[in-house]
Amino acid sequence: MPQARITATGSYVPAKKLTNLDLEKMVDTSDEWITARTGIKERRIAARNQACSDLAAKAGASALKQRGMKSSELDLIIVATVTPDTFVPSAACMVQEKLGAAKAAAFDINAACSGFIYALSVANAFVRSGQYGKVLVIGSEVLSKITNWQDRSTCVLFGDGAGAVLVEPAPAGEGRIVSVDIHADGSKGDLLMIPAGGSRTPVSEETVKKGLHYLQMSGNETFKVAVKTLENLVLNTLRSNGLQSSQISLLIPHQANLRIIKATAERLGIPMERVAVNIDRFGNTSAASIPIALDEAVREGRLKRGEYVLLEAFGGGLTWASALLEW
Ligand code: ACO
Repeated sequence: MPQARITATGSYVPAKKLTNLDLEKMVDTSDEWITARTGIKERRIAARNQACSDLAAKAGASALKQRGMKSSELDLIIVATVTPDTFVPSAACMVQEKLGAAKAAAFDINAACSGFIYALSVANAFVRSGQYGKVLVIGSEVLSKITNWQDRSTCVLFGDGAGAVLVEPAPAGEGRIVSVDIHADGSKGDLLMIPAGGSRTPVSEETVKKGLHYLQMSGNETFKVAVKTLENLVLNTLRSNGLQSSQISLLIPHQANLRIIKATAERLGIPMERVAVNIDRFGNTSAASIPIALDEAVREGRLKRGEYVLLEAFGGGLTWASALLEW
């Protein structure tokens, strides 16, 4: 079976910044609390007329440009998101139209913050099976539009952005996706959810009045499950690939909370210099956070051919996932 690899990366974040000091004027919070509890200093907020597919198309175009590939060559576009422009059509179909990728199939994946790695696992399988040769994987979120800006327990956490990668067959010696692991536990789904707006509780005047169309999270409980689950996940990924943590050149964690990122790195014995962190500038951008951080690492020249890169994420569903890359 052929191997697959990431051949290019791209990202896009909206221009508007919302700082902790701005939030102090909106809800009963403080820069000290947000910084100490999360590591976030500021986040980006999409313009009124910007939706998921707008950010996604910009990130995708940036990856295509880096590779020097025409959008007409793409076989498949996968968008990982919990904030699509609409339920139907999918954000991926809108990206296909925006990029002019006429021959590409297109669909969305919802695995919350683990969505990018879930989408990467699908792209990896399509390329390895030989069905598709050029797959664009995008994580894109406009969480600011599903955030309750009166709820201090969630509104300080999230931001908007998009990141993208191209997945293609890997010639020997030119890097590869070594392994991808995806998991779920639906029994704890209520820890992080949008209660209304789906077929269980359609939108009504009452659900809007109660704010049930916004993202709700039991933060502290989610935190505890996340730390424990991620520790086991990353240790298992190393073990099953016969690697030591000293062989990982860069850990790229989902950016939900700096304390969770540090706890995972510490458990692995990886110093923070070898961990990608941008939560201070972008907050939690759910499915977009890993591909944005990966694109930053590539553009800063942090990744060298043959080095190992470990991606890991935990999010709503509950879902969790890891990917080991040989760059
Ligand atoms: N400003 C000031 N005080 C606040 C704020 C705020 N913005 N938010 C909550 N508080 C208060 C609470 O009311 C509470 O007060 P009390 O002690 O008087 O009751 C106190 O701060 C502590 O609240 P906790 O929720 O226990 O704080 P915690 O240390 O757990 O931090 C946080 C909260 C940052 C949300 C953390 O729990 C977390 O990061 N959870 C995990 C998030 C995560 O990984 N989610 C999954 C990915 S997201 C996705 O899939 C879309």
